[in-house]
Amino acid sequence: MKKSAETFLTALILSSIFLSTACEHDVNNSNQDETQEQAQLIRDNVSDPAVCGSCHPNHYAEWQQSMHAYAITDPIFQTLSKIGQERTNHELDQFCMKCHTPFGSLMGETKPGFRFENLTPLAGAGISCDVCHTLGDIKRGEGGTSFHVDGIRRGPIADPVANAFHESEFSGRYKDSHFCSTCHQVKSPDKSFDIETTNLEWSLSSYVLPGIECQTCHMPTYSGKAATTGPVRDNLHKHTFVGVDYPLVDFPGREETIASVQQLLQNSAEMTVEAPMQVEPSKIFTVSVTINNSQAGHNLPTGAIFERQMWLEVNLTDHATGASYFSTGLLDDNGDLRNYHSDFVAAGHISEDSSLVLYNGKTIDATGRETLFFWEAASVENNTIPALESRRSEFTMSAPVGTRELTLSVRLRFRSFPPYVFREIGREDLISELLIFDMEAFEQSIRVQATKL
Ligand code: HEC
Ligand code: HEC
Ligand code: HEC
Ligand code: HEC
Ligand code: HEC
Repeated sequence: MKKSAETFLTALILSSIFLSTACEHDVNNSNQDETQEQAQLIRDNVSDPAVCGSCHPNHYAEWQQSMHAYAITDPIFQTLSKIGQERTNHELDQFCMKCHTPFGSLMGETKPGFRFENLTPLAGAGISCDVCHTLGDIKRGEGGTSFHVDGIRRGPIADPVANAFHESEFSGRYKDSHFCSTCHQVKSPDKSFDIETTNLEWSLSSYVLPGIECQTCHMPTYSGKAATTGPVRDNLHKHTFVGVDYPLVDFPGREETIASVQQLLQNSAEMTVEAPMQVEPSKIFTVSVTINNSQAGHNLPTGAIFERQMWLEVNLTDHATGASYFSTGLLDDNGDLRNYHSDFVAAGHISEDSSLVLYNGKTIDATGRETLFFWEAASVENNTIPALESRRSEFTMSAPVGTRELTLSVRLRFRSFPPYVFREIGREDLISELLIFDMEAFEQSIRVQATKL
C-alpha cells in the first residue's frame, strides 16, 4: 500500500470536492495554476493500478492484459494521435486523450507536443481502474471528462467489507451499458455526428429488453475474492474486456489475448452456404452465402469499423488439378484485399476483385473522398451487420467442360487492420504482427455431369 494515512485523511477532507471539467477547455485552456491544482487533486486521490493490485490481484492481472491498459501503449494510437495533431495544427488537442488517458489529459500531461515516454505511471495506464471506479457524470460519447475525486471507490458490490485504503460505495450504474457509452460512442471533434456507434447499435437491438448489457458479454462472471481480505463471492466480473484487438507489441498476456480473440470471433456469427451438389459443364450456377450476426450485441463488426475488415473468401477449384475457376477475397502480394486500396490493382498489375464482399465502414471527408483519418470525417458509410440480422450475398460461377469434380470452399475472415493503413501511417514495421482470424469455414464437393436425356 503506497498511500500514507495522511493522504488518506486529505482524501476524506476533499470528499466534498467534485472535480468536473464539463467544459474540456477547463483543462486545456485553464491557466497554469488551475491545471496544477487539479493535477495535485488527482494525484492525491487517484492511484495507478499497481496500488489497487496489492489488494485486488485478480482484477489487476486481468486489467493488465486488457485493451484498456493498452490504450496509451498502443503504437497505432501513438502514431495516429501524433498525425492528428500535425494535420490539424494541434486543434485536436485533448480530443483523443480524454478517452484513451482521461487522467493524463486532466493532469495536463498530454498537452500538444508531449512525449509518450514521459507520462507518469497513472497517465500511462490509460483507462486505469480509477478512470472507471471514480467516473463522474456519464456524458455519452464525450470521454472521461468528470470524476469524483473524493477517495471513494464505487462499484457493483452492495455489501463491501471495509478496508484501510478506501471507502467503498455501491452504485447501480456499473451494471448498465450506459456506463460504457462514455467512450464507446465516439462523437466527431466538432460533436456534429457520431463516428463510432457501438452503444447506439446496442440500444437499437433486441438485447435491451431482456437486459443483456455490454457487461453481460464482455465481463463474464466467476467465483473468487473481490479483494484479498474480502469474502469469496460468486459474481466477480472479468476485467480482460476481450474484443477483436490484441497487442501489436510485447505486452502482458499477449498470447492469451490472441487466443481469446480467436475464440470470441469464432462465436460471433453463423454462416450458411447454399450451393448445388451437381452442376452441368460450362453452365453458370449460383452460390449464396448468408452471414447472421448471431452473437454480437451490436453491429458486426462495430466500433472502429473504418479500420476493421471482415470479408468473404470464396474459392471454386478443380478437385483433381487444383485449377481455380472462381475466387474472391484473396490477398495481393502486400497482403491487401484486391480492391482500390491495393497498390497492385492501382498499378494495373492485377485485376480488381469485382465480387468482393467486405463488411466494414468508410470515413468520408467534406470533399466526398474516403479518409483514413477518422477525425477528418464528415460522414461514415456503414456496411456492417446489425445485431441478429443477416446479410446474403450471391456469387455466380461455372466449370469448364472436362471437369469432373469441384471443391467449393468459403471462409468468413477478419482482421483488425489492413496493411495499407499501416503503410499510409508509416508503420510498415508492424505489418508482420497482423493476424487474420477465420470466423467460419465451409467446404463442399460439387459433381460436374451433363444431364442425361
Ligand atoms: C488495502 C486493500 C485495498 C486496496 C489498496 C484497494 N482496495 Fe478496493 N477494496 C478492498 C476491499 C477489502 C474491498 C471489499 C471487497 C468485498 O467486500 O468483497 C474493496 C472493494 C472495492 C470495490 C468495490 C466497491 C463496491 O461497493 O462495489 C472497488 C470498485 C474497488 N475496491 C476499487 C479499488 C481501486 C480502483 C483501487 C486502487 C485505486 C483499490 N480498490 C485499492 C481493498 C482494497
Ligand atoms: C450479446 C453479447 C454482446 C453484447 C451485449 C455486447 N457485445 Fe461487444 N462484442 C460481442 C462479440 C461477439 C464481439 C466480437 C465481434 C464483433 O467485433 O462485433 C464483440 C466485440 C466488441 C468490440 C470490438 C469490436 C470491433 O469490431 O472493433 C467492442 C469495442 C465491444 N464489443 C464493445 C461493446 C459495448 C460497449 C457493448 C455495450 C453497448 C457491447 N460490446 C455489447 C458481444 C457482445
Ligand atoms: C473500463 C472500466 C473498468 C476498469 C478499467 C476497471 N473496472 Fe472494475 N468494474 C467495472 C465494472 C463495469 C464493474 C461491474 C460489472 C458488473 O457488475 O456487471 C466492475 C467491478 C469491479 C469490482 C467488484 C467485483 C467484481 O468483479 O464485480 C472490483 C473490486 C473492481 N471492479 C476493481 C477494479 C480494479 C482493481 C481495476 C484495475 C486493476 C478495475 N476494476 C478496472 C469497470 C471497470
Ligand atoms: C474512459 C473510456 C472508456 C470506458 C469508460 C470504457 N471503455 Fe472500453 N475501451 C476504451 C478504449 C479507448 C479502448 C481501445 C483501446 C485501444 O486499443 O487503444 C477500449 C477497448 C475496449 C474493448 C476491446 C475492443 C477491441 O477491439 O478489442 C472492449 C471489449 C471494451 N472496451 C468494452 C468496454 C465495456 C464493456 C465498458 C463498460 C463496462 C467499457 N469498455 C468502458 C475506452 C473506454
Ligand atoms: C469518445 C472516446 C474516444 C475518442 C475521443 C477517441 N477514441 Fe480511440 N477508441 C475509443 C474506443 C471505445 C475504442 C475501441 C473501439 C473498437 O475496438 O472498435 C478506440 C480504439 C482506438 C484504437 C485502437 C483500435 C483501432 O481500431 O484503431 C486506436 C488506434 C484509436 N482508438 C485511436 C484514436 C485516436 C488517434 C483518437 C483521436 C484522433 C481517438 N482514438 C479518439 C474511444 C475513443
